[in-house]
Amino acid sequence: EKGGYASFMLKEIAEQPKAVTDTLLGRIDPEGTLHLDEVRITRGELREVDKVVIVACGTAFHAGMIAKYAIEHWTRIPCETELASEFRYRDPILDPHTLVIAISQSGETMDTLMALRHAREQGAKVLAICNTNGSTIPRESDAVLYTHAGPEVAVASTKAFLTQLVACYLVALYLGQVRGTKWGDEIRTVIRQLSEISGSVDRVLATMEPVRELARSLASHDTVLFLGRHVGYPVALEGALKLKELAYMHAEGFAAGELKHGPIALIEDGLPVVVVVPSPAGRSVLHGKIVSNIQEIRARGALTVVIAEEGDEEVVPYADHLIRIPATPTLLQPLVATVPLQVFACELATARGNEVDQPRNLAKSVTVE
Ligand code: M6R
Repeated sequence: EKGGYASFMLKEIAEQPKAVTDTLLGRIDPEGTLHLDEVRITRGELREVDKVVIVACGTAFHAGMIAKYAIEHWTRIPCETELASEFRYRDPILDPHTLVIAISQSGETMDTLMALRHAREQGAKVLAICNTNGSTIPRESDAVLYTHAGPEVAVASTKAFLTQLVACYLVALYLGQVRGTKWGDEIRTVIRQLSEISGSVDRVLATMEPVRELARSLASHDTVLFLGRHVGYPVALEGALKLKELAYMHAEGFAAGELKHGPIALIEDGLPVVVVVPSPAGRSVLHGKIVSNIQEIRARGALTVVIAEEGDEEVVPYADHLIRIPATPTLLQPLVATVPLQVFACELATARGNEVDQPRNLAKSVTVE
């Protein structure tokens, strides 16, 4: 059932373009308008939402972190993303105008389930983003938007993550569409770009051989750091999580702006640091700042692994290894930038002799608190 792949994880990484397409299917009409009638929260109720709170765990939490950038930008509704396991124990402020979004591949994660129960008790509306039909989290929510990744067998989440991102973008754009924000034109453009994004994921997958080679060459290292900013920050966290759970290495993700507030002390000769670079200047003011960070860490001996868009020439002199991704609208970049990090972790784990589908100490769905 692995379809010729050495592991379910590799198969699921390869299935991502289709998973993304399937999750968009039937939800965008030819005029570029979104139809999410399956979300059984009325347009009137959505217009009254004055706060969005996203709860999730692990990889799904990283999707939620990215969703915050998209929701606040396209809807101007304040949004917070919180680890489900922390959320309910701090007595969060919720009311009937709060929209809580619970993201879960399995739909059975106990921490997320307890968080959504708590939210509903406070009168908030809960929308689940879930990959498993009829599982507990969607059953207990007011509404559900299913991701169509198909069954995910490997413990490490890959295609579910990309489809969670797609679902989050759809919700953000839909909220923007329903509420008619000033970003109307941008929303229509992004809907079109989103409908074409699976081609970019495909292109990334076709260029992964150098990433595998690089991963094998780093198999004897103890630590890998990941840096990113804006939506690249959760991507860095996701890259680090994949490496921890699969390669059992010390891996940490940082917001690149935090480097000078502490983490730069960790940089020493030969330490691999993966940097997720935002879209080049003109489209993102953060680009120049990240290029400076790369220079700073390289001057201190770091081995820089730079993930940058095609056409971004500024990073070239400072990249010991350069991983190219297609140019992508800023908020959508995680859909392409995450893929090399999945391949990297999978290959590094294999090179270290680890079982990638069933990493030690982990379960596919965590049904205890
Ligand atoms: O089924 P869920 O999406 O609720 O699971 C949440 C996390 O347990 C899950 O994403 C976990 O972090 C993955 N093993 C990461 O690859």
